[in-house]
Amino acid sequence: MYRNKTCGELRLSNVGEKVTLAGWVQSVHNLGALTFVDLRDRYGITQLAFNEDAAEELKQTAQKLGREYVVQATGLVAERYSKNKNLPTGEIEIIVETLNIVNESLTPPFTIEENSDGGDDLRMKYRYLDLRRPVVRKNLELRHKFAFEVRRYLDSQGFLEIETPILVNSTPEGARDFVVPSRMNPGQFYALPQSPQTLKQLCMVAGLDRYFQICKCFRDEDLRADRQPEFTQIDCEMSFVEQEDILQMFEGMSRHLFKTLKGIDIPELPRMTWADAMKFYGSDKPDTRFGMKITELKNTQKDNASQELVESIFPECFQVFDNAAYIGAICCEGQAVYTRKQIDQLTDFVKRPQIGAKGLVYARVEEDGNVKSSVDKFYQQDILQVLKEKMGAKAGDLILILSGDDAMKVRKQLCELRLEMGSRMGLRPKDKFSCLWIVDFPMYEWSDEEQRLMAMHHPFTSPKPEDIPLLDSDPASVRANAYDMVVNGVEVGGGSIRIHDAKLQQKIFEILGFTPEQAQQKFGFLMNAFKYGAPPHGGLAYGLDRFVSLFAELDSIRDVIAFPKNNSGRDVMLDAPGVIDQVQLDELQIALNLKTDE
Ligand code: AMO
Repeated sequence: MYRNKTCGELRLSNVGEKVTLAGWVQSVHNLGALTFVDLRDRYGITQLAFNEDAAEELKQTAQKLGREYVVQATGLVAERYSKNKNLPTGEIEIIVETLNIVNESLTPPFTIEENSDGGDDLRMKYRYLDLRRPVVRKNLELRHKFAFEVRRYLDSQGFLEIETPILVNSTPEGARDFVVPSRMNPGQFYALPQSPQTLKQLCMVAGLDRYFQICKCFRDEDLRADRQPEFTQIDCEMSFVEQEDILQMFEGMSRHLFKTLKGIDIPELPRMTWADAMKFYGSDKPDTRFGMKITELKNTQKDNASQELVESIFPECFQVFDNAAYIGAICCEGQAVYTRKQIDQLTDFVKRPQIGAKGLVYARVEEDGNVKSSVDKFYQQDILQVLKEKMGAKAGDLILILSGDDAMKVRKQLCELRLEMGSRMGLRPKDKFSCLWIVDFPMYEWSDEEQRLMAMHHPFTSPKPEDIPLLDSDPASVRANAYDMVVNGVEVGGGSIRIHDAKLQQKIFEILGFTPEQAQQKFGFLMNAFKYGAPPHGGLAYGLDRFVSLFAELDSIRDVIAFPKNNSGRDVMLDAPGVIDQVQLDELQIALNLKTDE
């Protein structure tokens, strides 16, 4: 037996017991006659003590221990002379009688403590050492519990966990596929699933009624803090349901997760239309932990987000505003104290290429109610007072204004500015949660790149029944039975009610630019299945990594993934992807045609 106790469980009540512990050496303190060793395992840290009267050989073994050596120690639990209030085991120590070095360790490349001195790359290269750090390990424990509670809830609701294949054909989720060559079918490739979308729909045709799967999905897309090339979904589908049934079911699941894992009772989730989200927050995933909504000061274009035109509050005299199709603003409470320098910084922020604003106009409401603005020379005080009123601003507030010729672009810029100000003003604490549903997404979005309408969600999403007549006359304005769950400005999940009618599905494919032959070739299996009695069905998928990282109050999903990839999609520990040898290529009948950099 290697151990009969762990390093996390001994307390004063165990004093006098003889125990054997095993673990890693966190640190060794040699104090002349006394030696103390902190021994760590998954459960905690316990102090081993080697006293003056210990055998000489034992003391010598203790003194030559290095960091991360694996050792086994047997001894008596004793009350500690100087207690450590920060450790659950801090009131006791083990007076060691025998010590066995199970395995030596090289000096680790970084310290394995709460705050490591290792940079990101180094920690990822030695991820197995990084994972020994309690902070990182706690995230994995939370992830485990999260998945466990998901299963508990869905099982209680009659869902079956069903595995679907990883070697499939392409699923149209909007990203590039990862492909796998087939040796037995030369020249042909499997695609790894971007999600099990079509397979879960086939499970519904199969009569399985309630499906879920905690599954890996693969998308070859540009990576960000909340995106990994392989990530995990909680993928769900239900038969004989309408949108309301799905929203209720999964609101229930979220409530269960918040309650069991965070001890939080979340209120009923508000629902916001996609149009309102875009109009008031400039984003389909608004961070509703704080207000600071966008106010339209001029809007000359009707679009999916806004069917109302807004006449400019500014008379013609300032070219930038006169020529703009859209002017929008946010009001930052109590921020009139912003200095010129801080405003300049904000201006640089919105002008960054990722945001793309041309400039920033500001207006401060002074203590006497007067408004001072960067466009004072164009507008009299009475106009600025109209601005103040329209924005609901009061003394001490700062109004920030952006304008441009494309309403949607300016809204997105305002969204970034709002989030930045929210962060600066401390309005986005990680331990406060604001959840909501975004509903009524448009069916399609225009792609400048492809010069055609693309499915905003995916091509199996059903249009709202009342909008079906618009499919022929004005497809761009058709709304979908699609919904997203958003928590603190993060899209944690999304789904839709599906089309279960082969003819309607065919029509949607046509609008997306597929010829009947192409649609048959790509999705024939699904459309054929629909001819054999497809039930009405719908579902959604959560991003498990994203949801867990919010619960862990982290910025990046990488921290809740045991072995994540870096921003170039590499696993630096495994050194993957890597080249394969000629024999493997020959077996696959593949010849490489690598482009060389010019
Ligand atoms: P969607 O593409 O919206 O829907 O994905 C569902 C959820 O998965 C998470 N997610 C990601 N997480 C980490 N890295 C990524 N690269 C990544 N991409 C997506 C997000 C997202 O909300 N088949 C549909 C679901 C359905 O209609 O039922 C789908 O995959 O949290």
